[in-house]
Amino acid sequence: MSYTAIVITISDRSFKGVRKDSSGPALCEMLKENNFEIIGTKLIPDDPDDIKNTLIWACDTAKADLVLTTGGTGFGTRDNTPEATKAVIEKECPGIPEAMRAESFKITPYACLSRETAGIRKQSLIINCPGSEKAAKENFGAVIKAVIHGLAMVHNIDHENLKMG
Ligand code: MTE
Repeated sequence: MSYTAIVITISDRSFKGVRKDSSGPALCEMLKENNFEIIGTKLIPDDPDDIKNTLIWACDTAKADLVLTTGGTGFGTRDNTPEATKAVIEKECPGIPEAMRAESFKITPYACLSRETAGIRKQSLIINCPGSEKAAKENFGAVIKAVIHGLAMVHNIDHENLKMG
């Protein structure tokens, strides 16, 4: 089973061209390696309305199975990604960020500084990752196996019969 994905980079600096976006392309690479079809990528500023509108587009118009964001999960005044995500999801999935932070905390004590969240809107699963390439890869890498299983559940595929492990 192949799922579709959209990757959204959320960064004022990358949007202005001050910082090169390497996190979005790195997440796309990981997704492709895991048999996802990338149906879109976006680079947007840390503006709450831009984030909400882009997430709604990814879920309702593009109908991506998985929507990954990278950036804007920290403590800065312009870090708005978790709040914008919470504003558009219908069901929160706390286990995903819990697992990402738990695995990340084994790598760096700064892992607890990410306020990343995850949730379902309609048939799409949205997951926030931190902004650096390293952090994005470490966080998504911690949950990718479970995410594929979770997507089958979102689509009501008989998950009892899915291969575990
Ligand atoms: N998680 C992992 N696995 N590796 C990291 O290097 N960096 C942390 C944290 N999570 C990090 C991590 C740091 S330093 C910050 S400030 C937060 O993610 C938030 O990052 P963001 O504001 O770029 O989203």
